[in-house]
Amino acid sequence: MTWETYHQLIWAWILLGLVTFVYLLYKKAPFGRHTRPGWGPTLPNAWGWVIMEFSLIPSFLLPIWQSDRPVSPVICFMVGLFMLHYLHRSLVYPAFLHTRGKRMPLIIVLSAITFNAVNGTFFGTWFGTFADYDASWWQDGRFLFGLLLFLVGAAINVRSDYQLIALRKGSETGYTIPYGGFFRWVSCPNHFGEMLEWSGYALLTWSLPGLAFAFWTIANVLPRSLAHHAWYREHFPDYPAGRKAVFPGVL
Ligand SMILES: NC(=O)c1ccc[n+]([C@@H]2O[C@H](COP(=O)([O-])OP(=O)(O)OC[C@H]3O[C@@H](n4cnc5c(N)ncnc54)[C@H](OP(=O)(O)O)[C@@H]3O)[C@@H](O)[C@H]2O)c1
Repeated sequence: MTWETYHQLIWAWILLGLVTFVYLLYKKAPFGRHTRPGWGPTLPNAWGWVIMEFSLIPSFLLPIWQSDRPVSPVICFMVGLFMLHYLHRSLVYPAFLHTRGKRMPLIIVLSAITFNAVNGTFFGTWFGTFADYDASWWQDGRFLFGLLLFLVGAAINVRSDYQLIALRKGSETGYTIPYGGFFRWVSCPNHFGEMLEWSGYALLTWSLPGLAFAFWTIANVLPRSLAHHAWYREHFPDYPAGRKAVFPGVL
């Protein structure tokens, strides 16, 4: 693939992300608390997470594997960060979920597989074909600041996800108000962390697929945070009044 084609495809993908963002602002993605009938066949929730998140890994690694360019230490590190996130999300996170008996529509899994395959291919192609970092990149301000954002975002995301998971004991599947940690300020710190993490990754890789991935992450999770926040307020009359949806003190 030429750089020009690759470039155009990613901009088209970003445009589609914008359309998705607007759509999701009006129509809640039907999984988790927003699951509702009328979305076709379903599968067990935790398996849905494994399948949809693991699907990114082959599409990401294949273009790197097939490339005949040597993989530099900088690229190795970036690929490692990415893999760490996705191995955790696809194999560890689902194992801890308390969602036994809950189901996820197949359409959600299929659309996530598509989203992941496209993003994985764009990123894999970047690292396998186009990326060119020399050793000075380790000290570049974009790399260092991006890495900081990535690590802080990942820590907030993982900590908040496990705080939510710990709200349920055994086979409970209901909802309670989360308190403590970043929940003091926002209803969805896990989503806030996710957006921070991938914005950091876009910065540390200083790449077009990085920008597309961060944009798509925001397009997916920002509307979901707003929907969760409205849902909490609707279901819990004592919900903390000063808590924002996702950006502390802002939104
Ligand atoms: N990169 C992307 O595009 C993207 C897109 C979506 C999600 N994600 C990430 O995937 C992870 C999960 O996302 P999500 O939107 O499914 O998170 P979520 O709705 O906050 O739920 C996380 C887990 O905690 C449970 N839970 C949430 N609130 C609860 C409460 N008040 N009481 C008891 N249990 C509660 C949920 O159960 P239920 O399932 O039963 O509600 C679920 O198992 C997050 O880290 C998110 O950032 C990434």
